[in-house]
Amino acid sequence: MRDFSDLYAEIIMDHQKHPRNFGTLPIFDKEVQMTNSSCGDQISLQVKFEDGKIKDIKFKGMGCAISMASASVMTELLKGTDVNEAKRISSEFIEMVTNGKAPVDDLKDAQVFSGVSKYPMRVKCATLAWHAVQKALSD
Ligand code: FES
Repeated sequence: MRDFSDLYAEIIMDHQKHPRNFGTLPIFDKEVQMTNSSCGDQISLQVKFEDGKIKDIKFKGMGCAISMASASVMTELLKGTDVNEAKRISSEFIEMVTNGKAPVDDLKDAQVFSGVSKYPMRVKCATLAWHAVQKALSD
């Protein structure tokens, strides 16, 4: 029977091979650059809003498989989402990975990152894109 760790490996590999929403937007409202202070890897995130929703979102960056897969999963999950909903979902993800809170259904595929909370060195990798989107949503 497949468990979370099998799914985690599958989702990391899939999003690493085929990152969703990778690149830049021709027109955007917010751009955030964020650096992982542990390793120096960076992510750049662009967001276009319309009618209180995330109309489009793209990321670029260099980082480990976890950070890139997490960014890809994040953009897939939040694209088209109401801004307040996106704030709530991103907080849930950060709580889950940083403090080991139980995953919630709203996180969909992003739930597989829950195991990262046991590896403090990887927490910053998994949350990099999510902190970037929180900054884009709050500024
Ligand atoms: Fe740099 Fe993971 S090792 S983002």
